[in-house]
Amino acid sequence: MLGAEDFIQDTISDLSERISGKAIIACSGGVDSMVAATLASRAIGDRLLAVYVDNGLMRKGETEEVEGMLKDMGINYLIADASSEFFEALKGVSDPERKRKIIGERFIRVFERQAKEFGAEFLVQGTIAPDWIESGDGVRDTIKSHHNVGGLPKDMGMTLVEPLRDLYKDEVRDVARILGVKASERQPFPGPALAVRCLGEVTPDNVAVVREACFIVEDEIRKAADAGKMDAPWQYFAVLLPSKSVGVQGDRRAYGRTIAIRAVTSVDGMTATYSRIPLDVLDVISSRITNTMKDQVNRVVYDITNKPPATIEWE
Ligand code: XMP
Repeated sequence: MLGAEDFIQDTISDLSERISGKAIIACSGGVDSMVAATLASRAIGDRLLAVYVDNGLMRKGETEEVEGMLKDMGINYLIADASSEFFEALKGVSDPERKRKIIGERFIRVFERQAKEFGAEFLVQGTIAPDWIESGDGVRDTIKSHHNVGGLPKDMGMTLVEPLRDLYKDEVRDVARILGVKASERQPFPGPALAVRCLGEVTPDNVAVVREACFIVEDEIRKAADAGKMDAPWQYFAVLLPSKSVGVQGDRRAYGRTIAIRAVTSVDGMTATYSRIPLDVLDVISSRITNTMKDQVNRVVYDITNKPPATIEWE
């Protein structure tokens, strides 16, 4: 890529030439969509509408946080609450690729409604290189149909604009830092959100469990990193496993759920090494999860697999 400064200038002028009317962008608050939205907003101002879809699958406090960032960047935005629509569509679905497809399509439906209302002719997306490389695109076998590629229906009726298509994650972060996008230091978060961290069916209950566990993992790891006990991993989160296991609660046998902790070091998500988290930090996470979520979770395990052979997410 060009230097980050040149990339920004060239992209803004390219976008202002290419986007002749109104445009819409799905803004999840992740670094990719925030950078794409900021560049497009600088290019066309309020002819851009950033839509944050509250799909009911986001992390704790995320909607408020994203709204704050959009405000700070002066981007014209809208928060669309569509959570019941998503849960309805995901009812009874366990297959990871079906989940991605359904979520991708739902996203687009919600956008299309907003886009029609706004009169958008262009759809800006924060797709980056690993998204389309890992989604096949005739280059490699499909590993995961990352939703910003796989879920797009052909009949969208809007012109697709992908300003970050040739960039890798570390390059996007460089651009974000220069733009002053706060999401630059946020860890990556998948488009299908907590749905791919709930193995099996995605229900409001399952999502609530993994949301709380994710919050605890993020909170304790951030604290440990701030205290100099460990380096902050590239990505760290919790996964809710679909099977139950036997445990004890008080003097009774209990049958509870299992949470897996995942933390990896990576540069661009294409390969990853599991983080050597100090045992005392793992201990604090495990105790906090099983103490504060004792009615739901009775077992916590740590994933010690690299990518490859595993992927970063479990689905
Ligand atoms: P995997 O699990 O494939 O993840 O090793 C690599 C990086 O991509 C994120 N990820 C996704 N991002 N839509 C996205 O936008 C998806 O469907 C998706 N699946 C995984 C993952 O969190 C990691 O950062």
